[in-house]
Amino acid sequence: MSIYNFKLSLLCLFLCCYQYSLAADDVFVDKAPMLGRSMSIIAVQEVDFVVLPNGDGLPEGSGGVDAGKRLFNIHCLACHGEKAQGGINGDLVGGHGTINGLSPKKTVGSYWPYATILFDYIRRAMPYQTPGSLKNNEVYALSAYILFLNNIIEEQDIMNAKTLVKVKMPNRDNFVWAYK
Ligand code: HEC
Repeated sequence: MSIYNFKLSLLCLFLCCYQYSLAADDVFVDKAPMLGRSMSIIAVQEVDFVVLPNGDGLPEGSGGVDAGKRLFNIHCLACHGEKAQGGINGDLVGGHGTINGLSPKKTVGSYWPYATILFDYIRRAMPYQTPGSLKNNEVYALSAYILFLNNIIEEQDIMNAKTLVKVKMPNRDNFVWAYK
């Protein structure tokens, strides 16, 4: 075979493979279930939010204990009980000092390492039946109330992006990295 024919053969082979791969793609496209639809950037932003332990992602807004108590009694008491204890769905308060004992009682106050993730959790998941329905000020106020009930902040303290990150949770230093 001349070098010219050899090159021509290679080119044909390449074109055949390319054509085949395009055809194969088409087959997969045809077979795709074609479910769902593309999300708009706004729709993505609505679900793509996270607050990191170091406070990154905390939004503007603020809230205090009094407002938090009122909101809690409306939106949360039915499941978490009065003052966030004794309800049907788990205490958010109490258990301090039990974590290294024989019957650890894990609550937000006794167990959680960062106050910032309390904000994230409430905004993302509570109230259980209508997650995402609370405004940022309301979530700050609820966080303040739960932290206050746990004796972690004072009654007059206001929670916002600057103050929440400074709150030191009692159990923070008892977490260890398993993979060093
Ligand atoms: C309809 C019942 C219901 C209501 C109302 C409700 N919660 Fe909850 N909550 C739950 C359940 C169930 C869980 C446990 C969820 C799980 O573990 O997946 C939970 C878990 C939590 C936790 C995490 C506790 C932990 O230690 O892991 C927090 C914090 C919390 N709720 C806060 C709130 C706040 C604040 C409100 C009001 C805005 C609220 N919840 C309203 C049912 C409820």
